[in-house]
Amino acid sequence: MRYNIFNHIHKALRALLYETGSLLQQTDFTDADESEVALKKVHEIADLFDKHALHEDTYVLPAIAKYDAALVHSFEQEHEEDIAMAQRLKGLLNAFNNAVSSAERIDAGNAIHTAYVEFMAFNLSHMAREERILNIALWKHYTDVEIMDINNTIVANIPFAELQATSVYMIRSLNNEEIITWLKHVRSTAPEPAFQTLYMIASDELPPIRWQKVKGALEKQMATV
Ligand SMILES: [Fe+2]
Repeated sequence: MRYNIFNHIHKALRALLYETGSLLQQTDFTDADESEVALKKVHEIADLFDKHALHEDTYVLPAIAKYDAALVHSFEQEHEEDIAMAQRLKGLLNAFNNAVSSAERIDAGNAIHTAYVEFMAFNLSHMAREERILNIALWKHYTDVEIMDINNTIVANIPFAELQATSVYMIRSLNNEEIITWLKHVRSTAPEPAFQTLYMIASDELPPIRWQKVKGALEKQMATV
């Protein structure tokens, strides 16, 4: 099994897409409080996907460009399309804020919902394509250690607040084995505070039964050090 550089972040992004998709379906757009919560999420997701595309354009695609420029170009184009869709969503959010009557709010909310579903469908398929096609290109030309180095560079260049918020969604979205492997890796390669931050997020976010398993595996590692 090879290292999948997209795994953690794509699981986190998919979880956000799914959750917000469900929330939008349940939102009564004539209710100001409900609308604010749901639409704030939509705005956050649009921003997150913009940043994510930028990280990939800056750190992942250049690693493949020298071997397959056409492939990289096709993914850059998808990122442009993605950014345009996010921009459109933000425009619809503005239109909602300018809506006056209940009927206008319902229409504006429904337009956001439809655009969001298209944005979600596009990104789900885009991320699956990246994992299917870009991973093959990375695995062909780089070792796992080299690909992990690319990931380390991305992590080192993300502001702490963004990293922490993303880590919460990663922990919520990964399975136990993935969390244990991740935390063990961070403990043995990163400064102690980075491990402590993740450890606390896992203890807060995981259901008790899962947290006991993860904690037990980490204690076992400590006992063997
Ligand atoms: Fe992407």
